[in-house]
Formats: sequence, structure tokens, C-alpha cells
Amino acid sequence: MRRVVCPGSFDPVTNGHLDIISRGAQLYGEVVVAVGGNPAKTTLFTPAERVEMIREATEKLDNVRVDHFEGLIVDFCRANNVSAIVKGLRAVSDFDYEMQMAQMNYSQAGVETLFMTTNPLYAFLSSSLVKEFCKYGGDVSGLVPPGVLERLTSRLRP
Ligand code: PNS
Repeated sequence: MRRVVCPGSFDPVTNGHLDIISRGAQLYGEVVVAVGGNPAKTTLFTPAERVEMIREATEKLDNVRVDHFEGLIVDFCRANNVSAIVKGLRAVSDFDYEMQMAQMNYSQAGVETLFMTTNPLYAFLSSSLVKEFCKYGGDVSGLVPPGVLERLTSRLRP
């Protein structure tokens, strides 16, 4: 079966991430969503919470599996017998960093990265903006799945 890994911090998962995951699931036999940590970012949700929110949001997609990883994404790929990563590209601003990571992962471990253009509906969307908007009373109900909205509201506006 052809598998692809979809990695990210997912703090929390947004409808933009879910769009990439579900489109990936139409192209591959299995999408393994890999919830990782970016040392440059502090997270609002624990890895277990982030995994749980994605599992809930993807429960109807039979060929999507969600896992947590620590360390290098290429080691996670190797351990799961996967040779490609899929990521969404929103705008030119994403490009530099994504390109660097993709080239590093290919040159060091032979893991390919495939970029999928983000649905224009979600081109502006990021987990950070969702958290900020929600924290100060904004309505993010159209941007995240219901389970995420519930957790965001109770965590940020207790
Ligand atoms: O959602 P993000 O923050 O863009 O996700 C970034 C993530 C977690 C996918 C990336 O930082 C990553 O792959 N981290 C794992 C550590 C690693 O492999 N670093 C080297 C990348 S070349």
C-alpha cells in the first residue's frame, strides 16, 4: 500500500489542515498524520490532545491514521515504512522554510516532500491566528472542526 506522512504541529488542527489530509487520503492508500513538536514554538495543547482532536475530526476517513512523534520526521517515516511527506503550501511566505526542510529531508534520508496548494478558502488560515482570534473573542467556528472549537473556547476563554 502506498502511504504518505502528513506532519505538523497541529496546535490545533484547522480546516485548512483537514483539507490537505482529506485530499491526501484520496491520492494515497493511507495518510499517516504525524503530530510533532517544533522547538521554536510553545504549544497550547499537549501532544495527546492534538492527536485526539485530529482523530475525532478524521474519524470518517478510513485510511487516515494519527500518531505522535518525537525527534526527526525522517526517522518517523522510516519507522512507518513511508518514503514521502505531503504538506500544504499557503503562500510564498511558507515557501522558504518548507523548501529548506524538504531539501534537508531528501538529501539526508531520501524522503520526498510533495506540496499541495492550499484551498484558497483557507489560504489565510493558521493555528496561531485561530488561537489569537479566539482568545480575544473572535468567532472561529467556520475555521476549525466542532471538537477543536469546544476545546479552544474552554482553554482560552474559561
Ligand atoms: O506545523 P509546523 O510547525 O509547520 O510543523 C513543523 C514540523 C513539526 C513538521 C517540523 O518542524 C518537523 O518536521 N519537525 C521534526 C523535527 C525534524 O525532523 N526537523 C528537521 C526538519 S528538516
